[in-house]
Amino acid sequence: MSTLLAFKFLYSLLSFIGGSSLNQNVTFESLESKTSQGAIVFNTIAFKTSKKEDVWTMKQSHNGLHAKDWDEIKIVVDKESAPFKASYHQLKNGKEVEYKASCLRCHSSGPRLIRPNFQSKEIKLNIKEKLIVFNWNLLIKSYGNVEVKENSPFKRKVALIKDKKGMHESLNIKSCTKCHRESGERSVLTKANLNTIKFLVKKKMMPPWPYKISKQDKKELNKFMYGF
Ligand code: HEC
Ligand code: HEC
Repeated sequence: MSTLLAFKFLYSLLSFIGGSSLNQNVTFESLESKTSQGAIVFNTIAFKTSKKEDVWTMKQSHNGLHAKDWDEIKIVVDKESAPFKASYHQLKNGKEVEYKASCLRCHSSGPRLIRPNFQSKEIKLNIKEKLIVFNWNLLIKSYGNVEVKENSPFKRKVALIKDKKGMHESLNIKSCTKCHRESGERSVLTKANLNTIKFLVKKKMMPPWPYKISKQDKKELNKFMYGF
């Protein structure tokens, strides 16, 4: 638990120093998100906070920086429940519409760490924007295990999670469950999160430095990810 408090403390300190700059939008090329054809995806994230909830809004373009139509998605973190709960929203002109993707495939524990491609040829972040993302990420890490808050204003065709079967196969590897567990720093991971798991493991972002995977666990992880 104390790591989460440390993240929260650092976040508060930096927010105090940074003043209102945290209300700024940040646009970046995503390292992880790609279109179905493997092309670049651009995101603009905005953040609003109150005592009750944190609201993360993201506009997303699959058609370059100058596209007219950007998708609009939102995650609202309810801070009055313990553990926190997050609801997922897809919007069009401010109105709730059908999800374009099953959010929980990638968002197993509420908001995701923001990872811009700092080598992007199309868009560079200035120092201020880098600091804002750094500080947002402290806050996102401080949430810990985040559960789902239902958001069904109409009968949805696209469920929050498509791979219902996969959700019952949780990742049971010590090098990961040290943190990815109900009482831990992050929610339980399952087969339904396979693509995100593969991405972060391949990029050596998980387990986070200085943690390592034991030899035995590496074997089990490969089995979980690739079936052999
Ligand atoms: C294929 C994986 C994937 C899916 C599916 C997905 N997201 Fe995300 N989302 C991400 C990643 C990765 C980030 C972090 C930003 C980045 O690094 O590009 C993110 C960031 C966000 C953010 C900004 C706050 C944060 O978490 O950092 C919002 C809001 C968001 N997503 C909402 C949604 C909603 C709502 C859905 C379902 C309709 C959804 N996402 C589906 C991968 C995904
Ligand atoms: C020391 C704690 C720790 C360990 C060990 C760890 N993780 Fe994580 N993991 C985190 C934190 C904190 C986040 C959120 C911030 C980030 O993405 O860096 C995260 C994020 C993730 C995510 C994205 C979903 C989410 O919760 O935001 C995946 C997938 C993931 N880790 C996979 C793994 C796998 C696979 C292992 C084992 C090989 C592992 N992690 C080991 C702490 C850990």
